[in-house]
Amino acid sequence: MRIASPYKNILVTGGCGFCGSAFVCFVVDSAPDVHVTVLDKLAYAADLDSIAGLSKDGVELVVGDVCDSNLLERLVPGHDAIVHYAAESHNDNSIADPAPFIATNIEGTYTLLQAARAFNVRFHHISTDEVFGDLALDDPRKFTEESPYRPSSPYSSSKAASDMLVRAWSRTYGLKATISNCCNNYGPHQHSEKFIPHSIACIQRGERPKLYGDGLNVRDWIHVEDHARAVWSILTKGAVGETYLIGAN
Ligand SMILES: NC(=O)c1ccc[n+]([C@@H]2O[C@H](COP(=O)([O-])OP(=O)(O)OC[C@H]3O[C@@H](n4cnc5c(N)ncnc54)[C@H](O)[C@@H]3O)[C@@H](O)[C@H]2O)c1
Repeated sequence: MRIASPYKNILVTGGCGFCGSAFVCFVVDSAPDVHVTVLDKLAYAADLDSIAGLSKDGVELVVGDVCDSNLLERLVPGHDAIVHYAAESHNDNSIADPAPFIATNIEGTYTLLQAARAFNVRFHHISTDEVFGDLALDDPRKFTEESPYRPSSPYSSSKAASDMLVRAWSRTYGLKATISNCCNNYGPHQHSEKFIPHSIACIQRGERPKLYGDGLNVRDWIHVEDHARAVWSILTKGAVGETYLIGAN
């Protein structure tokens, strides 16, 4: 289905990653009048195949770092929206070495916010429900936009910090920004380090998948294309200054 867009040129950071590439594919397939620029530093989790089949007219890849303010100064003008997916995204890696998480997730978000502010560009920040920590297994409540932040790993703390920066730039500088906190994603092109691909690979090798704790934990999972559609709705219909939670219940 062809969809109308209020934006003509969208910059998607991390658009070669698992979630970002699903969003890029959704936009290029559904809104062919929109031009998408992907900014991605092609870190280990990037998968060029995930956007390889798209029309070259609809999407351009710029290989670079969201922490590079000089690059952003050249790249951001001419875009009317930024959707910020780029991140270090794997919890276990953040425990082994937090430094890249602080650099990309916090400093990178700051650098991008400054560029969005300088050129008055609509900004959507992709975040995670992991900023809310976890609930007891028998707790009937769900996270809401009002839930307190209780991040528990270097990854989730860095995402929580980036959310706070976005709120501050929205309130202090009037940046037209929204945030979405999504639950766990599954779907094509997910890196093999993540829970579902990793568990499948273990089973294929005849090994038991690794579960944390007693294995009774409950998680909410959403298909990555549903996440992409939700982000598009927020970008095009969401109220500036708001935070939205995305989940599959
Ligand atoms: N995967 C999930 O289940 C999930 C759930 C909720 C929210 N999110 C959020 O979605 C976003 C993307 O997650 P993902 O699972 O697609 O991650 P991913 O690791 O698959 O992809 C991240 C992408 O960002 C790029 N990147 C990393 N550092 C960069 C930098 N400094 N400059 C430019 N590009 C850089 C990588 O090369 C990669 O292509 C993250 O912000 C994450 O917090 C993910």
